[in-house]
Amino acid sequence: MTDTLDKPLDRPTPKAGILDISPYVGGKAKAAGYAEPIKLSSNENILGCSSKAIAAYAAAAEQLNLYPDGQANRLRAAISEKFALEPERLVFGCGSDELFALICQVYCEPGDNIVQGQYGFLAYRIAGRAAQAEVRFADEPDLRINVDKVLDQVDARTKVVFIANPSNPTGTWNTRDEIARLHAALPKHTILVLDGAYAEFADAPDYSDGIDLARAMDNIIITRTFSKAYGLAALRVGWGYAPLAVADAIERIRPPFNVNIPAQAAALAALADDDFIEQSRALVQTWRPWLAQQLGGLGLEITASQGNFLLVQFPDKPGRTAAEAEVFLASRGVLVRGVAGYGLPRGLRITIGREADNRAVADGLAAFLAQGTQR
Ligand SMILES: Cc1ncc(COP(=O)(O)O)c(C=O)c1O
Repeated sequence: MTDTLDKPLDRPTPKAGILDISPYVGGKAKAAGYAEPIKLSSNENILGCSSKAIAAYAAAAEQLNLYPDGQANRLRAAISEKFALEPERLVFGCGSDELFALICQVYCEPGDNIVQGQYGFLAYRIAGRAAQAEVRFADEPDLRINVDKVLDQVDARTKVVFIANPSNPTGTWNTRDEIARLHAALPKHTILVLDGAYAEFADAPDYSDGIDLARAMDNIIITRTFSKAYGLAALRVGWGYAPLAVADAIERIRPPFNVNIPAQAAALAALADDDFIEQSRALVQTWRPWLAQQLGGLGLEITASQGNFLLVQFPDKPGRTAAEAEVFLASRGVLVRGVAGYGLPRGLRITIGREADNRAVADGLAAFLAQGTQR
């Protein structure tokens, strides 16, 4: 035992802050009495995925004895071509979640901070705290990232600002001009992460995924995922487009085989299946306004969304609350996501489904509210 330890510990002890982290809890997958509930609780792709991706995944079964290509070179080349990006600036993660963790591990140390929106995605705060950074939350008036509120939180020790655009669980988005203004006001040493997990579903004319801004900047990382529009959530493939020096730093600690062979193969096939992506996008863009209108017509508060989901807020009255609505829908075989953990206790987040799924939500909530009225 050296005398450099102040006090010897009698058990393995996590470093400071780890036990203050609340573990991530995913959306519910089971509804009592339903073998196959309508699962609208995790913003997955209700259409499944490209049949070409399934075939590529199955073919990869022949290679289970091999380590994957640690550079994901074929996938790298395909993404580079499709999005017109320099291949050497791409980094791959076991889901984009892993990239958030790697970014914080590379750039944050105790005394540093990260900034995210008040209602921002839970994975950012876990990544920041795991790297022993302080996590700062910028108020989101109107459930939307506000550039000035974000900048109010930024100081010389801010290493990363995480912005999901569109955001989860609110579905709100920031315009191209807002993102450019935010970036222009950040210190040069602060990385702006623009998480485009839902970018494919956006159709607002003022929306931009930020890739064009990122091309020429030394401190922007774009992250994207195969989990949503491409329907490959099970396989965990995310990618980032980073400045060369940032990509180089991340590569030094990235687990070398973090994207496995079936995942790389399926992602490559999915990327090439434009028809499937188009169908996924069209489904969301058709039914998102429909569901918003139906639920708004029931008197529920709907937040305009550019994601594949809607945030729906309920009254704070017994018999009409979000928690009760969640239970009621589950009793009809429809699973949605309560978002109290995001600081939105009156909210449910509902993934856009196929026509019958969306009608089941609208009919279910109409019945729920009618029942509440009779109390
Ligand atoms: C805003 C946002 N970013 C990233 C992700 C995670 O994506 P992945 O499956 O690539 O880890 C999600 C998943 O729900 C998300 O909502």
